Amino acid sequence: MQLEKEINKRRTFGIISHPDAGKTTLTEKLLLFGGAIQEAGAVKSNKIKKGATSDFMEIERQRGISVATSVLAFNYRDKKINILDTPGHKDFAEDTFRTLTAVDSVIVVIDVAKGVEEQTQKLVEVCRMRKIPMIVFINKLDREGKDAFDLLDEVEQKLELKVCPLSYPIGMGYDFKGIYNIWEKNINLFSGDNKKNIKDTIAFDDIESPELEKLIGSDEAEELRTDLELISEVYPDFDREAYIKGELQPVFFGSALNNFGVRELLDCFITIAPPPLPKKAEERAVTPTENTFSGFVFKIHANMDPKHRDRLAFIKIVSGTFERNKPYLHVRHQKNLKFSSPNAFFAEKKEIVDVSYAGDIVGLHDTGNFKIGDTLTEGEQLNFKGIPSFSPEHFRYINNADPMKSKQLEKGITQLMDEGVAQLFTLQLNNRKIIGTVGALQYEVIQYRLEHEYGAKCSYENFPVHKACWVEAEDPNNEEFAEFKRVKQKFLAHDKQGQLVFLADSAFSIQMAQQKYPTVKLHFVSEYK
Ligand code: G4P
Repeated sequence: MQLEKEINKRRTFGIISHPDAGKTTLTEKLLLFGGAIQEAGAVKSNKIKKGATSDFMEIERQRGISVATSVLAFNYRDKKINILDTPGHKDFAEDTFRTLTAVDSVIVVIDVAKGVEEQTQKLVEVCRMRKIPMIVFINKLDREGKDAFDLLDEVEQKLELKVCPLSYPIGMGYDFKGIYNIWEKNINLFSGDNKKNIKDTIAFDDIESPELEKLIGSDEAEELRTDLELISEVYPDFDREAYIKGELQPVFFGSALNNFGVRELLDCFITIAPPPLPKKAEERAVTPTENTFSGFVFKIHANMDPKHRDRLAFIKIVSGTFERNKPYLHVRHQKNLKFSSPNAFFAEKKEIVDVSYAGDIVGLHDTGNFKIGDTLTEGEQLNFKGIPSFSPEHFRYINNADPMKSKQLEKGITQLMDEGVAQLFTLQLNNRKIIGTVGALQYEVIQYRLEHEYGAKCSYENFPVHKACWVEAEDPNNEEFAEFKRVKQKFLAHDKQGQLVFLADSAFSIQMAQQKYPTVKLHFVSEYK
C-alpha cells in the first residue's frame, strides 16, 4: 500500500520547446511554486548561447551546469514532481529524445509571437509517435503575438495535435488584460504595475454576468464571450482519458516571466497528468507498482573533473523501489552491482538517498559499466525497449592522429559512444570508423574530450552521407538481399549494436534502392521491430 501511495504521488515530466520560448523561465516559476527555490534567477539556463559554439570552456561549463539541472524535483501539494531537463539546442536533440523515454508526460512551450518553431516540431513529433501525454503552454502573452485562434490552428496543423483550450487570453501584448480559465471557470487579471505578484483569481461561473463588463471593459467582455462560445463549438471538451492516450492536448496561455498563468497550469497538471506509467520490456510490460525493482539508463553524464573518469548514469525507476547498497542485476553484463551512494535530486541539488520509488530518477556513479539503454533489475531477465537512434545529420571518418595512443583512442571512442555523444558506424569493407552526429558541434566536443579525458588525438575526414538507413531484410537468404549487399558494399556499415546500416549518399539513391530491392526495408530509426 505504501509503495502504491508513493508511486501515485509521482509526476515525472519534461518541458520541451524551441530555444528561447521560455522553458528555463517556466521551470524556474514552477520551482518557485514548489518552494524549492526562493528567488527568480536560481535556475541556470544550460543552453549554449549563440556565438559560443566553439568555446570549449563554455561547453565544459554548460556540461557542469546541466548535471545540476538534469533533474529538478520538488513537492507541490501532495505530489512529488520530477522535471527532467531536455536541452533545447538542436545539436543536443539526441539527448532530448533519450530523455523523452524517461518521462511520463510533457509540457510544450510555444512563444506567442513566433508560433510553432522547428525544434518544437521535431520534439513533438517524437512525443506524438510515442503517444506521450502533452500539455501546451503558449507563453509571452505580455508581448504582441499571433491571434489566439490562429495559433491554435497552427498548433493543430504543424504539430498534428488535437487541441483543447483550457484557458483563453483576454487581449494581448499592450492590451493584455488577463486570462479566463476554462478549466477552473475563473478570471485572473493581469496587473501591469505589480506584475511579479501572484494575483488572486476571481471566480466566474456565469460568463453572461454583467460583472464581466466591470472587470475587463465592455468591448473585451463582448469579445471574450464570443470567443468562448466559438471555443466550445469548435474544440472538443476535455477528456482525461484521451489526453493520457496522447489523443487530445490541453492548451494554456500565460506569461512565464510574469508568473502569470503558471499556477493554473501547475494545478491542472497535477490533477490530470499521469503517475508513472507501465513500460514495455522486450519480454513483457512492467507495471510501476510491482514489488521488485527495475529501471533503465537514459542518460550518462561525464564528470567535470578530467582526473576522475567516473560518470553519473541516470536511471529511471520503472517499478518497485531502488535501495542503497542492495545488489541489482546489470542485465547486459549478467553481473550484480551495488551502489553505496545513489544520488537523488531535489531542486537544483543532489543528495544521497536510501530509497527511491518508481517514477523517480537516481544518479549512479559509474566507472564504465553502463551504456545508454542498459537495464537493472532484482534478478529478472528484462530488457527495456525504446531508446532508438535516428539518422545523424553529419558523418565524418575519425582517424588516429597519434599512433602511440591508439588504445586510449579506442577506449575514449567506446565510452563517449556509450554516453550517447554521437553514433559510431564501422564500414564493412575496411573497418574504418565513421562518427555520425546531429550537429557539427559534437565533433569539437569529441576531439576535446578525447584529448583531455583520454589523452588521445583524433582528426576527421569528410564522408558524404545523406542519411543512415537501418537495413532489414524480409528474407536474409534471398538473392535480392545478396545483390543489395554486393552492389552497395561500399556504403554498408554496422552500428554499435551490430545492426546493418546503409549510408546512402543521396535521397535519390535511397529511392532507387527501395525500388530495386523491395524486400530490403530501409528504416530511418534504429528501432523498427
Ligand atoms: P529557453 O529556456 O526556452 O531557451 O528560454 P528562456 O526561459 O531562457 O527565455 C528566453 C527569453 O525569453 C528570456 O529573455 C526570458 O526572460 C524571456 N521570456 C520568458 N518568458 C517570457 C514572458 O512570459 N514574457 C516575456 N516578455 N519574455 C519572456 P532573454 O532576454 O533572452 O534572457 P534573460 O537575459 O532575460 O535571461
